[in-house]
Amino acid sequence: MLIASLKPRTMGGTTNTGLLAYALARAGHPVTCYDADESLQLAAWARDAGDFPCEVHVADTPAFAEVVYPEMDHDRINVVDAGHAENHPDIVDSILEVVDLVILTLSPTQPDYDRLTRPERGTPLAKVIKRSAALRESGKPPATYVLLNRCQAGAASPRKYADLLRNGGEKGTEPRWTVLSTQIPRREGIASAVGFPCDKPERKAPYDALVTELTKLGHLPEPRWRP
Ligand SMILES: Nc1ncnc2c1ncn2[C@@H]1O[C@H](COP(=O)(O)OP(=O)(O)OP(=O)(O)O)[C@@H](O)[C@H]1O
Ligand SMILES: [Mg+2]
Repeated sequence: MLIASLKPRTMGGTTNTGLLAYALARAGHPVTCYDADESLQLAAWARDAGDFPCEVHVADTPAFAEVVYPEMDHDRINVVDAGHAENHPDIVDSILEVVDLVILTLSPTQPDYDRLTRPERGTPLAKVIKRSAALRESGKPPATYVLLNRCQAGAASPRKYADLLRNGGEKGTEPRWTVLSTQIPRREGIASAVGFPCDKPERKAPYDALVTELTKLGHLPEPRWRP
């Protein structure tokens, strides 16, 4: 299967992709990663960290569906880190053609909510995902979940933006999103995760919860083994 980590702009996407890969491996899944962001930070993380749990293939190409996807081992959980959808819509379009599950990282702030729902330039991501249906074998858009990141403990903002996303904005007229109940907290240990070993409890617990939730939702197979 293929999971894509998407975001409209810088939101913590690579952090979430990498720490999700560690958590999938901890749960006993065979994992492979693909770096489809030209900054190649996920590939560098795997090179530098020492304990990165899988291979990361460089895959920042608008021919992702034609060139990268057919070569994957589809029995593994393949995770692709996409760059900014705002700047690289061609790569994101190609990933959306073939992906099984989209995890959309979003920070619960007004500017980041606006960049998702009503960007000043470019096509809103909801529309990009919806129109991908035309090119998909199923004829339907991929299952898509919003993962709130950088959530301040005790703050009202995660709840506020989760409600706005679920309800289609203040007036209920905008696209509705499914928001995961797992939230990634704002933490220094997570802020500094990219490029370093996954050796802190705060780099593990929220992502183990994410794997558990995705499994309960039926999007991940039961792990083959548990460590
Ligand atoms: N849970 C978190 N708590 C605190 N800071 C975070 C968290 N997640 C990410 N960050 C910080 O947010 C910034 C962006 O993270 P990251 O590089 O993962 O995002 P990205 O969406 O991949 O960005 P890019 O646009 O460069 O691809 C980094 O400075 C990182 O330290
Ligand atoms: Mg990134």
